[in-house]
Amino acid sequence: MTKNKMRAAGIIFCICLLFLGACEKNSPKTRDKLHVGVTYYDQSDTFMNELIACIREKMEGLGGKDLDITMTVRGASGSQQIQDDLVEEMIYGGCQVLCVNLVDRTDPSDIIELARKNNTPIIFFNREPVEEDMLRWDGLYYVGADSEQSGVLQGELAAEAIQNNKKIDRNKDGKIQFVVLEGEPGHQDTIIRTENAVNTLKKHGIELEKLGSGIANWNRAQAQNRTMQLISQHQGNIELVLANNDDMALGALDAYQKLNYAENELPIFFGIDGTDVGLEAVREGKLSGTVYHDKEGQAAAMAKLAKAAGTGKGMEDIPFQNKKYIFLPCTKVKK
Ligand code: GAL
Ligand code: CA
Repeated sequence: MTKNKMRAAGIIFCICLLFLGACEKNSPKTRDKLHVGVTYYDQSDTFMNELIACIREKMEGLGGKDLDITMTVRGASGSQQIQDDLVEEMIYGGCQVLCVNLVDRTDPSDIIELARKNNTPIIFFNREPVEEDMLRWDGLYYVGADSEQSGVLQGELAAEAIQNNKKIDRNKDGKIQFVVLEGEPGHQDTIIRTENAVNTLKKHGIELEKLGSGIANWNRAQAQNRTMQLISQHQGNIELVLANNDDMALGALDAYQKLNYAENELPIFFGIDGTDVGLEAVREGKLSGTVYHDKEGQAAAMAKLAKAAGTGKGMEDIPFQNKKYIFLPCTKVKK
């Protein structure tokens, strides 16, 4: 090549570069992408399905002209093994942040190990891992309700109802005969809600006599069965039913209806969650009260945290308690 030809080629090359640069400036910037994986313990849980719908809505709402948020949601059918596999699929499928509602809250080791190795942050929600597990890695967070408060509020609702209506003590012995319907054994909400509801009633000066309790795993049909058994042991003597969630309070009511109990022979029923069916039952006076489990607040906190943890921007704006926890308050609901 002659000197002149080389110079001409150089000039053309530079013009091309300038041209390319200009093109880049004028073309719209491609949006950043955030792929969020969500997995939850069981697809048949009423409250969880409502919470998941809120999470979808809040995540979609956070996308915008700079960020394209996509979500994969998978239920784990009550199996930790299935959930471990789902988490692996999601991580290898390109999820940059995961939201995990554990099947077994005491068994997150495999999930944490995999996430840590792949540097994929995890927001655990609703089923709280033990502290020792939460401390295994910096990229682990928890969003949930304040379990203690939900129990206290249920106790307050029941105490108010009992103090305002002498007829609730149907056998007029000055004590309230009660039963408890409990969620899954080992779930933080089961243990803490029951304890705080009962203690709050006592603090308000209500004399209690516990007739029995049944584990119904948050489930309406199981609660109906367990209540049928409790009724067969105690006949019409039960004056108060405290259920760890709305579905189980409704299952208890189903049992009385199935046995054709008259209105004035029924105990009073209290749930927790404020699910659609739960709120409807409070409106109709079938449940005496429930405690609203702030699914909108939890979903909004999760979406904001997922965006921050997944993009690495905005972590300083997250109002953590104890560095990795976000607890949302509950509220009382009565007619
Ligand atoms: C509780 C909720 C229950 C059930 C459970 C599942 O917080 O009150 O209805 O959804 O979580 O973990
Ligand atoms: Ca009584």
